[in-house]
Amino acid sequence: MDLFSEQHPELVPLAEGACWLPGFALPVMEALWRNLQQHLSEYPPQQMMTPMGLMSVRTSSMGDWGWVGNGHGYAYSAMQPGTGLPWPRIPPVILQLAAQAAHKAGYHAFVPDSCLINVYAPGSKMGLHQDKDEMDFSQPIVSLSLGIPATFLFGESKRTDKPVKIPLQHGDVVVWGGASRRFYHGVAPVKADTHPLLGPRRINLTLRKAK
Ligand code: SIN
Ligand code: FE2
Repeated sequence: MDLFSEQHPELVPLAEGACWLPGFALPVMEALWRNLQQHLSEYPPQQMMTPMGLMSVRTSSMGDWGWVGNGHGYAYSAMQPGTGLPWPRIPPVILQLAAQAAHKAGYHAFVPDSCLINVYAPGSKMGLHQDKDEMDFSQPIVSLSLGIPATFLFGESKRTDKPVKIPLQHGDVVVWGGASRRFYHGVAPVKADTHPLLGPRRINLTLRKAK
């Protein structure tokens, strides 16, 4: 599907290099959800242990590089924890969406090699952090939300900077890169709710070029 033949959704600038694309992914949500359901049944999301403790989200991955925490640290890994097998490829519908969202945000020819899948139950959250384990910071981050709403916190270059609060909905995309590539970000505790397609959960896909 060519998203650019559809009516363009709104673009909301958040900071230099960063924008929110409300509803950008809505035309492909059903196909995307079918892919994700299949993936999650084969590669069930797991709670990762990090040096800060057990994460409240459950995590799975696609692509050449998955994101794995083991209690001592966390890193991109070509192998799934437990089985040692590679992660499955990122489906074309997700790659195309990521490239189109990046393009709309001004980043051309984005080809992610990692898709992190974070599953949030009501109450799950993500503390403020930077994405800084990738090799090439000229590549943006594309973040896609599905399911129940969540408040995305987008800070600045210091953890103490007060973040802006972005009410993300099913089908929204956020892209950040350039001057804001290493900005702090996180997710406030997700409020109890039920989504018609996903039920009582939120899923976020984070697409990155890791290596
Ligand atoms: C993350 O930064 O890893 C996740 C962001 C989100 O869930 O929206
Ligand atoms: Fe992040």
